[in-house]
Amino acid sequence: MKILVTGGAGFIGSNFIHYILRIYPEYHVINLDAVTYAGNLENLKEWKDDARYSFVKGSITDKDLVDGLVAEADIIVHFAAESHVDRSILNPDAFIVTNICGTYTLLEAARKYNRRFHHISTDEVFGALGPNDRPFDENTAYDPRSPYSASKASSDHLARAYFHTYGLPITISNCSNNYGPYHFPEKLIPLAITNLLENKKVPVYGDGLQVRDWLYVEDHCKAIDLIMHKGKTGETYCVGGGSEQPNIWIVKKLLALLGKDENLIEYVKDRAGHDRRYAIDFSKIKKELGWEPQVNLEEGLKNTIEWYKNNQDWWRKIKSGEYKDYYAKQYNDGK
Ligand code: NAD
Ligand code: TYD
Repeated sequence: MKILVTGGAGFIGSNFIHYILRIYPEYHVINLDAVTYAGNLENLKEWKDDARYSFVKGSITDKDLVDGLVAEADIIVHFAAESHVDRSILNPDAFIVTNICGTYTLLEAARKYNRRFHHISTDEVFGALGPNDRPFDENTAYDPRSPYSASKASSDHLARAYFHTYGLPITISNCSNNYGPYHFPEKLIPLAITNLLENKKVPVYGDGLQVRDWLYVEDHCKAIDLIMHKGKTGETYCVGGGSEQPNIWIVKKLLALLGKDENLIEYVKDRAGHDRRYAIDFSKIKKELGWEPQVNLEEGLKNTIEWYKNNQDWWRKIKSGEYKDYYAKQYNDGK
């Protein structure tokens, strides 16, 4: 089996490539990635010279490039995206181009060669929940509220339209917030861990009571593996961690695990249009494919802290490069 992975140099994509190449010795992976600020080839350096892995630098919006790669593959697993909500608020442009037009370009090539297509999406397409609302499931109506989630919702609709209109064998997964190794340190958990390792403050937006449902990235990779092999085409699967917690709980837990003082918490200005709560009901994938999360939040956070402690070069290089200016701007705006 030859898998075309898009966005494989990013957080979830690189975890997925490690997972697939370790679990399936006979599988080949082509990684198509534009290596934006969020892409990092160091994530996959152990496979660099492996005959089962190849890397192609380029954009999913490049029609000719995409056509040739899709022709070669048995299945496309599509992660490539602009993924950070705060960046989408500052500048939505790249979100529209990559997340919508890029997905369209891939779907067109998949249609031409009739290829199996798995589209990675997010729970953010469903909008925000109140404290007593039932978690999102596959029947929840779409209600995206940020440029990021609106662009992901558009791409989900396109993927579904290609199934209904052209019979393209697609599946979609909508997952909750992932965390784990190789997570770019602009998102809450890796930002907090790396700041704390540097004895810097952790910015908490607004009152810190926004709730996210945390999913350990390896559990997510296992879910995608099952959907790829056993999922029913045309179907959507909601993938959640069963670990809802307010942001301030996460930050305080990280402080405790790292033995740091709570004076390193800094409440800053809230995010515009900040979604209050996300939560996923994953009973469909549990019932139909036998998946459920295996790593609980405490264990996952401990593993993640260990990874960031043992891979300081990886994140220090990022934080002292392009990211430095971005962080300074965000942080100052928040004060
Ligand atoms: P990421 O930002 O870490 O990585 C995205 C990757 O896509 C990077 O390697 C980047 O270089 C690449 N990329 C960006 N634009 C590209 C383009 N035009 N052509 C080719 N490559 C391009 O993202 P992530 O956190 O790994 O997320 C992966 C997918 O999962 C995304 O589709 C995201 O919407 C979805 N998702 C993520 C989360 C999460 O918690 N991280 C939750 C739900 C869904
Ligand atoms: P984030 O990791 O950006 O993921 P998403 O916006 O996709 O859920 O943010 C997770 C939550 O943490 C979200 O409610 C925003 C909040 N947050 C902070 O409080 N401080 C931060 O510095 C960041 C990056 C996020």
